[in-house]
Amino acid sequence: MMQQSYNTLSILSILIAVLLCAPTQAIAVPWAGGFSQPHPEQSSKHRIFPQLTWLRDTAIEKVFGLPPKPTQPGCDKHATSRPINSQLPSTLLAKYGGDVVLRFNLSTPQEEHALAEAADTLFLDVWEFTSNWADIRLREDDAYSNLMPDLAKTIYQSYPSITFSEPSSPANHEAFTPVLRASNGVDNIFFQNYQPLSVIIPWMRLMTSMFTTHVRMINIGTTYEGRDIHALRVGVSPNLSQDPSEPRKTIIISGGFHAREWISVSTVTYIAWSLITAYGKTPGITKLLQEFDFVFIPTVNPDGYIYTWENDRLWRKNRQQTDLRFCRGLDLDRAFGFEWDGNTLSSNPCSESYPGVEPFQAVESQRLARWAKNETENNNVKFVGFLDLHSYSQQVLYPYSYSCNADPPSLENLEELGLGLAKAIRISSGQQYGVASACEGAVPSNKAPAGGASRMETGGGSAIDWFYHEMRVRFSYQIKLRDTGSYGFLLPKENIIPTGEEAFNAVKYFGDFLLGNKGIENILAEDSDKAIFNTAAKVAEDELVEIEEDVEYYETEDVNWDLKRRRRR
Ligand SMILES: *[C@@H]1O[C@H](CO)[C@@H](O)[C@H](O)[C@H]1NC(C)=O
Ligand SMILES: *[C@@H]1O[C@H](CO)[C@@H](O)[C@H](O)[C@H]1NC(C)=O
Ligand SMILES: *[C@@H]1O[C@H](CO)[C@@H](O)[C@H](O)[C@H]1NC(C)=O
Ligand SMILES: [Zn+2]
Repeated sequence: MMQQSYNTLSILSILIAVLLCAPTQAIAVPWAGGFSQPHPEQSSKHRIFPQLTWLRDTAIEKVFGLPPKPTQPGCDKHATSRPINSQLPSTLLAKYGGDVVLRFNLSTPQEEHALAEAADTLFLDVWEFTSNWADIRLREDDAYSNLMPDLAKTIYQSYPSITFSEPSSPANHEAFTPVLRASNGVDNIFFQNYQPLSVIIPWMRLMTSMFTTHVRMINIGTTYEGRDIHALRVGVSPNLSQDPSEPRKTIIISGGFHAREWISVSTVTYIAWSLITAYGKTPGITKLLQEFDFVFIPTVNPDGYIYTWENDRLWRKNRQQTDLRFCRGLDLDRAFGFEWDGNTLSSNPCSESYPGVEPFQAVESQRLARWAKNETENNNVKFVGFLDLHSYSQQVLYPYSYSCNADPPSLENLEELGLGLAKAIRISSGQQYGVASACEGAVPSNKAPAGGASRMETGGGSAIDWFYHEMRVRFSYQIKLRDTGSYGFLLPKENIIPTGEEAFNAVKYFGDFLLGNKGIENILAEDSDKAIFNTAAKVAEDELVEIEEDVEYYETEDVNWDLKRRRRR
């Protein structure tokens, strides 16, 4: 058994290495040589209406396919302190050079009202919001606290370095050992960086072929642009001679509803990998996978995800055509059929939260819902958990999203488990995650019916509400991952593993809670920074030493210079 699992893991690491080397040529983030010239003066109009300038340039770009004139590319005054700007591809500068993300401090209802009105009227790109602040992407304007002073640079840094680097000579043969740990992904090359779909899908296939006993690849449906929405089904249900009248309890963990939230995609793969490789080794996980099936959907929105890699790093919606030729895309998390809300100003197709003209008009949301219904109606599945990963702001949100005026029937249970998830994260990494109703994660807006709460972004038609209400999923959460705004959607790759690890701990807590073990604190207290189920950690560690010793021989092989190259910078 031990020998077998060692072999599996080492073959896996070679294959992952191959996977990661192959597609580097295919990553097509636009590169154009040449550098943007600093622009001398801004017209006063630009200063007064930065948002309108941004909106106009965006529209021009979408209609004519030309990047708008870069305004203020890396302002002169900052040029010396940010020399990296001169190495930025000009297309990135053109799109983002003058943009900033501003945090609006919302301390009075009047401020909330005013900002909500502006956001509604101008279709501003609202990045995140809590009850205290809202982050909005705009043209530069000195009036507000500037959260991310140089968006272009941050975007540039968030792409894997290979994307922009010239192919370097293979002369550099420094030793590199792709150690694959069994209990965490620290040295797993797959999690060293964000991965494009062209790597994620082969990686998923690899999982199914390496772990045939408990991993299968499934297809949720087809996207607007004709891609498959792939998922991994992890569990041992086919082998259990269970009562066929008893439905298979299943937990869905999804990411990438919103294309630019890359950390949600990497975290879904990280949790999947952690569960898959711990099966048969860690008794708690083995039990979990005997009791439940997990369905991991790394990206519900593959069209949008690819678009963020090849065209626009900050794309949020899917890529569906709308009535307005130059404003594409529907918000998948506003498109579900429960309390769908098409009556707000965000029903303009140019809005980042456009819900479509009717429920389930967004193709991918409709496919996911249809698949889930079919599973329950024809495949003897019962969904007991839904964890929808997003970013950013570090919050665990539970139903309802559509309104604060309606309490979910199982409010207390939702709160209890939500607090437990946040606690599991805190114990695992020290990170603070807030726990709230999804309706409160939104900012009140002026569109409220008198007396009622409304919000900057409508919360109707959300996935967690639909699964909770229509599919009767008792524990339905949206988890907004790291960070709290320093980088936002452009979270540096160094966060992939820590975020994955803390989310994995939350998932273990989730599973343990569903198994009926609420005395989880006792186990955690014994060994506070270890995973909940890691009672077998000692055994695993011995195994690890063996694995590490045995992978030494990779060092002598040439195949890894590419990996080494990938790691530099
Ligand atoms: C927001 O404004 C309130 C009231 O003026 C102040 O107490 C708070 O510190 C401010 N928060 C931030 C982040 O600036
Ligand atoms: C499930 O059954 C297959 C075929 O009978 C077998 O090869 C596999 O090892 C079993 N998996 C588990 C987890 O028992
Ligand atoms: C529904 O499930 C059945 C049984 O697995 C399958 O044959 C069918 O293709 C599924 N239909 C859809 C729309 O997914
Ligand atoms: Zn999101």
